[in-house]
Amino acid sequence: MTDVASDVPSDDALSNLLHENRRFEPPRDLAAQANVTADEYDTAAADPVAYWERAAERLDWGSRWSEVLQWEPPFAKWFVGGTLNAAYNCVDRHVSAGHGDKVAYHWIGEPEGDTRTLTYADLKDQVCKAAHALTELGVQSGDRVAIYLPMIPETVITMLACARLGAPHTVVFGGFSADALASRILDCQVTTVVTADGGYRRGAASALKPAVDEALTRCPDVRKVLVVRRTGQDVEWTDGRDVWWHDIVDGQSTEHEPQMFDAEHPLYVMYTSGSTGKPKGILHTTGGYLTQCAWTHWMVFDLKPDTDVFWCSADIGWVTGHSYIVYGPLANGATSLLYEGTPDTPHKGRWWEIVQDHNVTVFYTAPTAIRAAMKWGKEIPAKFDLSSLRLLGSVGEPINPEAYIWYREVIGGGRCPVVDTWWQTETGSIMISPLPGVTAGKPGSAMTPLPGIGADIVDDAGESVPNGHGGYLVLTSPWPSMLRTLWGDDERYQETYWSRFPGRYFAGDGAKRDDDGDIWLLGRVDDVMNVSGHRISTTEIESALVSHPKTAEAAVVGATDDTTGQAIVAFVILREAAGDGGPDVVQELRDHVAREIGKIARPRQIMVVPELPKTRSGKIMRRLLRDVAENRDMGDVTTLTDSSVMDQIKTGLAEGGKADED
Ligand code: WT7
Repeated sequence: MTDVASDVPSDDALSNLLHENRRFEPPRDLAAQANVTADEYDTAAADPVAYWERAAERLDWGSRWSEVLQWEPPFAKWFVGGTLNAAYNCVDRHVSAGHGDKVAYHWIGEPEGDTRTLTYADLKDQVCKAAHALTELGVQSGDRVAIYLPMIPETVITMLACARLGAPHTVVFGGFSADALASRILDCQVTTVVTADGGYRRGAASALKPAVDEALTRCPDVRKVLVVRRTGQDVEWTDGRDVWWHDIVDGQSTEHEPQMFDAEHPLYVMYTSGSTGKPKGILHTTGGYLTQCAWTHWMVFDLKPDTDVFWCSADIGWVTGHSYIVYGPLANGATSLLYEGTPDTPHKGRWWEIVQDHNVTVFYTAPTAIRAAMKWGKEIPAKFDLSSLRLLGSVGEPINPEAYIWYREVIGGGRCPVVDTWWQTETGSIMISPLPGVTAGKPGSAMTPLPGIGADIVDDAGESVPNGHGGYLVLTSPWPSMLRTLWGDDERYQETYWSRFPGRYFAGDGAKRDDDGDIWLLGRVDDVMNVSGHRISTTEIESALVSHPKTAEAAVVGATDDTTGQAIVAFVILREAAGDGGPDVVQELRDHVAREIGKIARPRQIMVVPELPKTRSGKIMRRLLRDVAENRDMGDVTTLTDSSVMDQIKTGLAEGGKADED
């Protein structure tokens, strides 16, 4: 475990942030027609449980709940006794209401001209067919299905087909390796995998099926693999196990009776990194999750379902994609955009071209993407007509005021409010954010908890800090889309989130309240990095590094990076037998991590060092390593067993021991 306290940024380090005093009032016309007004906060505060009950009433239920909330800390049940079907709520009910012709998704493949439009009626047909196919493959309510697919319509269709059958899905991001996929399949006791031959990324077909084949050599319980043909790449085939999507889905009936499930029926498991090497399976259930996803999508993005074109640029493999590409927008009957590829293929204006061509009105992305666009230059978005945009969102990491202003001015033409939304895989939906028609936004602040949400910032002793001070972010009351537990591990659930400040949820983030009482998020206070908005644990990468035969010891830190927020920097001591490791040792180790965990975990930099700085109790001093990685002065090193270690490391760096960068 980490001594969190030492990682809370000092008041000094924050002061420059808090000198930010620009304010952006909501545009008058937006405020005049906004879905909610400032009253919302008071209404919710007067009776939060009744507030969420009203939000739940926006969904269609089989039978109504008998009790809104049963809270036996840290275990919550929402809408107790209620039944519903998530897929029915996302699809069928819109068709029944006469909106079958409305576009659910404008899908855009990465290769130019490769597009598909799916109306709600199309989506309903496809989901019903896929549900029949999964049933034919033996999937029943309660069975887990792993989804390892690119950003194609079949990904959404499969998630909804699973939801329709009450079979919890676990979507594994396509950037994860065979190993990472296998460990998730095993932890979740998955019996069926849905994948594709590959997807398009950076202008080329990128294979997925070989990783599944490799993973399954370790997963004997997987009986069936359903394979979408996307790229036409050659695939190895295991007869009796592998089935083509087009062979089994296409011929099925488009009618499928949805069964109602308990509000607390598991909807999905999403794995995320914790401060140990083993990813945590975050469990979300049906009624509360869908209620808050739909509600926040409507309120925070001021959704006008009849006219908005909503685009969340996240990958469906992460929670942002689950909540704001799939469940929230569909439950609201919105029209969304789904894009398969990268922002710079085939040119750096691809995203802005898509906004222009599809008249996107609300755009939701991560600060890392904004910073990359800033680097490429404002001339690029300037080539496109972005006047359809009316609202911009940010998520995944703190947005620095410079990026906020650029986003607002260059992308939003100075007229679009920016909502900086704080939440986590665990919270399921947005928790802290401005409301676009209500809040005067400050660049860099997520502002205040949403109506119905309780949050606080506390010190080490758990005392609420006054304005102008920093501490740990906690959530003070249960919320509908909260995680219910960690898959198969109630104990770790209690320990990780509820033991540090009993009765309150420990988010793992440092935060500060400014003089107005507004919240500024300051990054993780545990051994978890945030690289391009993706959560990656230092321990996981260290384990990957030491599993290489040339490595004796490794320490990993997240160093500040202009584009990705944090970047992975590893310090490695080689085994004696490995000598100097050879000329390619750094590349070899980087590739090894990519193979073990996935490309997203490949360190930006690996430094081969003779020693690592440790405390007398043998704990690696990551703060010092971070200072080295960021080229800062190291401050007090007297607690080191051997303070010459840092000199050695620094000298090593000066002599070019510092490895490559790309
Ligand atoms: C962590 C959660 C949930 C969306 C994607 C990431 C950081 C998220 C913000 C924000 C500052 C943010 C936090 C959080 N984070 N949004 N608006 N401002 N930090 O989900 O992988 O579960 O990561 O992302 O550190 O704990 P995730």
